[in-house]
Amino acid sequence: MKILVIGSGGREHALCWALRQNLGDDLSLLLCAPGSAGIAEVARCVPLGATDVSALADFAAAEKISLTIVGSEAPLAAGLADEFERRGLVVAGPRRVAAQLESSKAFAKEFMRRHNIPTARFHVADSALEARKMLHRGEFGPADAPVVVKADGLAAGKGVVVARTRAEGERAIEELMGGSLVAGGAARRVVIEEALEGREASLLLWTDGRDYILMPAARDHKRVGENDTGPNTGGMGAITAPDVLDEESKARVVREIVEPTLEGARADGLEFRGVLFIGLMLTADGPRALEYNVRFGDPEAQAILVRLRSNLADIFEAVAHGRLDGVRAKWSNDASACVVLAARGYPERPEAGARIEGLEGIAEQMPGVRIFHAGTTRAKDGGWLTAGGRVLGVTTTGATLETALRQCYDAVGRVRWDGMHYRRDIGQFANRFAEAAGGGAPRGIQE
Ligand code: AMP
Ligand code: GLY
Repeated sequence: MKILVIGSGGREHALCWALRQNLGDDLSLLLCAPGSAGIAEVARCVPLGATDVSALADFAAAEKISLTIVGSEAPLAAGLADEFERRGLVVAGPRRVAAQLESSKAFAKEFMRRHNIPTARFHVADSALEARKMLHRGEFGPADAPVVVKADGLAAGKGVVVARTRAEGERAIEELMGGSLVAGGAARRVVIEEALEGREASLLLWTDGRDYILMPAARDHKRVGENDTGPNTGGMGAITAPDVLDEESKARVVREIVEPTLEGARADGLEFRGVLFIGLMLTADGPRALEYNVRFGDPEAQAILVRLRSNLADIFEAVAHGRLDGVRAKWSNDASACVVLAARGYPERPEAGARIEGLEGIAEQMPGVRIFHAGTTRAKDGGWLTAGGRVLGVTTTGATLETALRQCYDAVGRVRWDGMHYRRDIGQFANRFAEAAGGGAPRGIQE
């Protein structure tokens, strides 16, 4: 089997690493476009842009690629799966029409409403005037209640504002629709939404449109600062652990959200094939779907894939061919963690070019630790330099979240560069859950 992975971040490094586990040492069986200096350790990198759909299809045809796996949403929203299928190439990702579950929040919310999937109350607005009017409707609670304003289109995590007051909501509408927060007309329409309270979880699954395989539920840490402070980022760390979504809640999410979503997609003729990522808010009134993504999360992928004990290529191949029925995924241990190390200035203005020290020896001396590269490049002397906002994702598994986190932070303590920063509280919310629930041994790390 010859596999092509599309993308260049930490998530794609984790995908390539996981695929490599069953491909032996022959680098020519695993290609990555465009890849990165870190990915080049496990795959052959091909200098083609992730959204250059026709060049990628030409390449896949010429190289006789047997399976293409897409890391991020942009190529799918650009119609990569449609083009590959048109040319008879096998691809494990949804077509453009189904990718709208991520690329248009209005599409996703209307889909949820149509199929009775529990989600926050919402309105879609096509103008700032309409949006402002909706903001003041009673159904979003009293005038001093928070409200959420979301850009309809893809906005790389910058398109959602949780406004504490209606005045902040008005400002968010002006900023989003005026183009100062997100680019490219992503906020020509906005969704105004009731603000939900609860804890968040990400539930990811593979589906061929009919059958599905759930992955361990994950928890992202989106804010740059400890205790969820500061601006939003692509994600500063992720964990998987039983506490993220207990068995009872998971059964309810499957019954009320996962299965109605897959049935709804079938009923609407979306033929969803690939990875579906459901962002959840677990509220006092039950689980609510916050959003869909049509691909792995980053850094959720890193935390999830280190626990996979099945052949990832076999799963994706079954997804692409509509043969997921009877396929199972085996997972190790109970928990995992990924701590993202970021460059000075991330997320606003990350600095590149700092020399990374301390990476040598970690793989040999800490065999459970994987370091996935999100933004690095090789120095002339073979060392590593920073080359992006999120630079590395230090990832481990453990029998408990506490052991996984301890090992992760031990490894983090060996790495340094000028301006490196990271959150020291990844997974800490698990302690707060246990306390809020009135007992149970804290599972997070104690520092
Ligand atoms: P989304 O891209 O829709 O997942 O939104 C990004 C983040 O905004 C989520 O992970 C939540 O933290 C927050 N968020 C989105 N929608 C809501 C909501 N209705 N209520 C409260 N927080 C929300
Ligand atoms: N970590 C969130 C995402 O990938 O969308």
